[in-house]
Amino acid sequence: MRLLLIGPPGSGKGTQAVRIAEHFGIAHISSGDLLRRHVAEETAIGRTIKEYVARGDLVPDGIVMDVLRKPVSAASQANGYVLDGFPRTVEQAEAAYLVAKALGASVRIALYLDVGRDELIRRVLARGRETGRADDTEEVINHRLQVFEDHTRPLLDYYAEREELITVNGARPVDEVAWSVTVQLQRVQRQLNG
Ligand code: AP5
Repeated sequence: MRLLLIGPPGSGKGTQAVRIAEHFGIAHISSGDLLRRHVAEETAIGRTIKEYVARGDLVPDGIVMDVLRKPVSAASQANGYVLDGFPRTVEQAEAAYLVAKALGASVRIALYLDVGRDELIRRVLARGRETGRADDTEEVINHRLQVFEDHTRPLLDYYAEREELITVNGARPVDEVAWSVTVQLQRVQRQLNG
């Protein structure tokens, strides 16, 4: 299975991706986690990444593609992946499509976690208080949500036209969301295989 997980900050992409990966025996690849690792390890590109992430802006496509290339191609050759946080723009989706096509592994399913703004802000600020994640502040979360509306929401139309797009109500408790996600993915898998 090759799955793209799309949703605003705080919608539960990371939380659900862990469960999906375990249930379907596929790799969990998080663009945000990979980028934060470069920052933590102070790699050559880590300093540049840090500035974008701290502001809540999108990291330039070239850097993101470089960071993702290896894990995505390894997972494509194995059982597949759930990609959490990528693509985030139509341009990234087009680049990903070309890379996947070259690997003979075009992405088939996009899953959107739908959660209202007030709940997103509540979750992210709660995590910020707990973990001190640098971009989980009131000012930065408002900007991250705006970046989602401006750059990422258009992806939903893009995938609705091209691939199988599933929308799941992510505003329910974690286990309920996970159950809906699994049922929907199994249904789509059956359709694709049949
Ligand atoms: P990224 O790490 O992808 O962050 P994000 O999209 O802002 O998402 P979050 O991690 O805030 O939330 P999530 O949807 O994963 O939810 P989670 O499960 O963690 O990106 C960070 C930055 O990296 C970006 O701003 C950008 O700078 C850069 N970046 C990343 N990818 C990029 C790309 N492709 N291109 C360019 N730049 C990129 O849950 C959030 C909280 O809610 C947790 O505390 C969790 O416990 C809780 N929670 C989850 N589900 C529920 C539930 N159902 N009920 C109650 N609480 C819940």
